[in-house]
Amino acid sequence: MHRLSANPLDDDAGPVEGGGMRLLVLGGTHFLGRHVVTAALDAGHEVATLTRGVSGEPPDGVRAFRGDRDDPLPEAVLAWAPELVVDTSCQTRAAAEHATALDPVGYAFVSSLNAYRGWPPGPIHGEHAPTWDTDADEYGPVKAHAERVLGAAFGNRFLTARAGLVVGPHDPLHRLGWWLERIAAGGPVVVPDALDQPIALVDARDLAGWLVAVCGRESGPVNTTGRAGMTTFGGLLETCREVTGGDAE
Ligand SMILES: NC(=O)c1ccc[n+]([C@@H]2O[C@H](COP(=O)([O-])OP(=O)(O)OC[C@H]3O[C@@H](n4cnc5c(N)ncnc54)[C@H](OP(=O)(O)O)[C@@H]3O)[C@@H](O)[C@H]2O)c1
Repeated sequence: MHRLSANPLDDDAGPVEGGGMRLLVLGGTHFLGRHVVTAALDAGHEVATLTRGVSGEPPDGVRAFRGDRDDPLPEAVLAWAPELVVDTSCQTRAAAEHATALDPVGYAFVSSLNAYRGWPPGPIHGEHAPTWDTDADEYGPVKAHAERVLGAAFGNRFLTARAGLVVGPHDPLHRLGWWLERIAAGGPVVVPDALDQPIALVDARDLAGWLVAVCGRESGPVNTTGRAGMTTFGGLLETCREVTGGDAE
């Protein structure tokens, strides 16, 4: 990650009252993006979302643009001229290519550790490990392609956050939530035979707050997951038992 030498946020203070900026969340109504919206409002930004309108609405006070990322961006979004963009919804090559029509001072992209050729199983040593460069329409190669397209378009205005396992409220997969609820219910719990397996995770609220804080201020690739060795699967289950106060075995 590189700190921008000239901070674009100082050069181009937007017209938003209170010193905020026009911040567009691509996505913003489901899981991570929803927390990005909250963090951006808390930071005093004027916030808009772009979604298809399938996953719900953003909160009051947020401008809701409609559009499919597989189509060119709506004129209304371009006319709004976002100064900051946090991209939580890029899942196709076309979506990345269409986003290059924007011209923000900072673009924070939510990528994945799957962009690395060596992940899984890893380990990943730093951010300079090789990423996928195939044409496969699979998750990792698509994220890596999107990073290259957007990085070429935005240069040192572009930051890519390579997320690992994201957990927290509104997780549609209910991954950590399932274990919390089951362990809170107590009694004997069947668990996978993999308690020593190391895992690393990040709270969606922490990642969201960080994305808003660094967008337009930092650039380059960042592995945005918990530190390697932070816990094991068994350690996570033990923490679930501690925080729920349950008597699960
Ligand atoms: N969850 C994890 O553990 C994890 C790990 C690594 C990386 N990531 C990355 O983190 C990002 C956020 O993931 P998430 O699970 O929080 O969110 P998500 O489920 O990917 O939510 C997607 C959001 O984008 C919108 N959206 C989806 N498809 C769209 C389309 N074609 N056009 C316009 N808007 C669209 C959805 O609204 P509508 O449905 O209304 O359009 C929703 O607001 C993703 O890029 C994902 O790849 C997640």
